[in-house]
Amino acid sequence: MKRLDGKTALITGSARGIGRAFAERYVAEGARVAIADIDMTRAQETASQIGDRAIAVHLDVTDQASIDAAVASSVEQLGQIDILINNAAIFTAAPITKITRDDYARTFDINVAGTLFTLQAVARHMIDRGIKGRIINMASQAGRRGEPLVAVYCATKAAIISLTQSAGLNLITHGINVNAISPGVVDGEHWDGVDAFFAKYENKAPGQKKREVGAAVPYGRMGTADDLTGMAVFLASDDADYVVAQCYNVDGGQWMS
Ligand SMILES: NC(=O)c1ccc[n+]([C@@H]2O[C@H](COP(=O)([O-])OP(=O)(O)OC[C@H]3O[C@@H](n4cnc5c(N)ncnc54)[C@H](O)[C@@H]3O)[C@@H](O)[C@H]2O)c1
Repeated sequence: MKRLDGKTALITGSARGIGRAFAERYVAEGARVAIADIDMTRAQETASQIGDRAIAVHLDVTDQASIDAAVASSVEQLGQIDILINNAAIFTAAPITKITRDDYARTFDINVAGTLFTLQAVARHMIDRGIKGRIINMASQAGRRGEPLVAVYCATKAAIISLTQSAGLNLITHGINVNAISPGVVDGEHWDGVDAFFAKYENKAPGQKKREVGAAVPYGRMGTADDLTGMAVFLASDDADYVVAQCYNVDGGQWMS
């Protein structure tokens, strides 16, 4: 018996990176998954590589009609949604004196409003059907404390931790568990962009920031997407039934709380 046998999951931003690793692991654990992403070409590639237990669904988390359509399409194709992972997000960075209102608004729209309103749409579905569902939000160590050049992204991830607490307390009254995962530094395309940013603002060679942050992790290296999948399976499994409104660090020992 696999740990997610018979379960269905909608995973936002899962065309690549950490979301994709979650989708692969969930399928390996017996689930069927909707790869929901704004990049539909890549979502379709990912779903077809994972196999017939994965479907691709177009989703722009900044657009309420798109959220509603993605939820409806996932329900139609998978039967229902037992698990939601709110994983889609963007990274942004700038010194305080260079932050623009447009970048602030876009980052909060995707990372915070996108998480809240996708969570809301799926929670309504779960409540309507009496599903004792699981919702997992992607926070970050960036939400645990500020960083000098990353004010807006850090603030969005702090908001995710707070939102997880409020939604967790509200939705457990319907038997829906809401929790969050807080990764540290996870290598992949996301961090290629972060490394390029620091190369520009801190005058570093390409790859230097990655080497520095990896060396600073107590475990001794940057994380991989696969390092996070065990926690995502646990939080979706029956073993996490009494786990409510928490945020778990999976970061090689970087943050303690
Ligand atoms: N990589 C890290 O070091 C790290 C660390 C801590 C937290 N996280 C968090 O983990 C999650 C996944 O990170 P990742 O490294 O895999 O990122 P990523 O950039 O590789 O993937 C993000 C995915 O979200 C999708 N996306 C972007 N905007 C969207 C929108 N409007 N609607 C729907 N989908 C959209 C992208 O197309 C992409 O497939 C994010 O929430 C991120 O903040 C990552």
